[in-house]
Amino acid sequence: MSKSSFQPAVQDQYETYPYPARNPADERKRLITGSPSNLVELNHYLFSGRRDFSQPFRALVAGGGTGDAAIMLAQQLADASPDGKGFENQVTYLDLSSASRRIAEQRAKTRGLQNILFLNGSLLDLPHLELDAFDYIDCCGVLHHLDKPETGLKSLCSVLKQDGGMGLMVYGEYGREGVYPLQSLLRDLTHKTEKLSDKVKLTRRLLEKLPASNNFRRNPFLIDHKASDAELVDLLLHSCDRAYTVPQLTELIASSDLTIAGFIEPIRYQLETYIKDPVLLRATESLDGMTRAAMAEKIASNIKMHVFYVTRQKNTVAKLEGTRASAESLIPVLREMNPAQLATSLKKSPQLKTSLEGVPVTLQLPRLAAALAERCDGTKDLSVIFEELKTLDSRLEWDGFLTQFREFYQAFNSLNHLFLRRTAP
Ligand SMILES: C[S@@+](CC[C@H](N)C(=O)[O-])C[C@H]1O[C@@H](n2cnc3c(N)ncnc32)[C@H](O)[C@@H]1O
Repeated sequence: MSKSSFQPAVQDQYETYPYPARNPADERKRLITGSPSNLVELNHYLFSGRRDFSQPFRALVAGGGTGDAAIMLAQQLADASPDGKGFENQVTYLDLSSASRRIAEQRAKTRGLQNILFLNGSLLDLPHLELDAFDYIDCCGVLHHLDKPETGLKSLCSVLKQDGGMGLMVYGEYGREGVYPLQSLLRDLTHKTEKLSDKVKLTRRLLEKLPASNNFRRNPFLIDHKASDAELVDLLLHSCDRAYTVPQLTELIASSDLTIAGFIEPIRYQLETYIKDPVLLRATESLDGMTRAAMAEKIASNIKMHVFYVTRQKNTVAKLEGTRASAESLIPVLREMNPAQLATSLKKSPQLKTSLEGVPVTLQLPRLAAALAERCDGTKDLSVIFEELKTLDSRLEWDGFLTQFREFYQAFNSLNHLFLRRTAP
């Protein structure tokens, strides 16, 4: 590891408290999935839905921690490959912490995964590691722990293929209201305490005694520290940690000549989610997308992490626009939802209801919602779905069908449930 990339306090923390706390034996019971790095999702945002994952696809997980993203990617890529095993070293895991790497390795072993290359080291050294370039890089919860996040991002770019993309996560400023004053208070409180485990004890003691007026205590979205000591250290005792607003992260991304392909979940960054008043909405009409996203973030005040995809290229997101032939070849894919079960529930109530950390959301769905859901099985393209629905209603025209599908798609996609792919050319 080069001297410039060495952050001893950060490394010590993750050697003592690998993050997140994971038991490799749990791999027998479940696969942890999430965003970014779900294959259907990243294909939609970064490759216009055109990537065929049965072919070689190289992914890097930079700052892989105890392995959540590396395991998820490796398992999905293995499942998509012709022999069910994936390609050799298809996923590269890299982390400063050897304790974290051991847990990640054990998890892979428990699952029988053979397509991951495990490396210890700093992502700042990537330009010198002589690795082949990557199609995709996952870097979650890491850039905001670097002395110079811009340098870290440039380092990642140095090993990204020209047409590749990244899935990133950095902390959100407003959703972490209360964290930074408490971190600063804890630095003073623990200044004489050497061992991290003793700092954890002092912190837990203080948390029990915080007055009801304290900002951290008043923020209902900050609950990570309740899960384990590793989570508490990560949230409150970190030696290097910053958060981003939408304009700040836009600046970070622009510093490497990248563009944001999409935020996850999109609905959180849409003003219409929080404002229904037409007068207020009209006042924002002429503003560009990022300014509106920045306003949505401020209004919601509950985004504690920004998950988003970035690319060098523009127009990498799968879209419903274009000619009829182009739209017809799109294949809608539901993520982790069973089409038949969804259709049954939509027949009872053609609405999508959820809550975004305290913000209730109700999305109205079109008349055909249940019939569409039933057919979004990840194999049928829109031409097939249209023909099937036409046999049920001979008066259905393509334009009317597309209007209803667009409404259905926008609702489910905004909540990260539905994506588009195309069969390989
Ligand atoms: C908060 S954890 C996130 C782990 C994982 N990405 C996740 O989301 O579950 C941050 C991880 O980044 C690693 N890390 C911090 N700085 C790094 C660097 N310069 N190079 C590689 N890994 C680093 C830490 O060791 C730690 O495992």
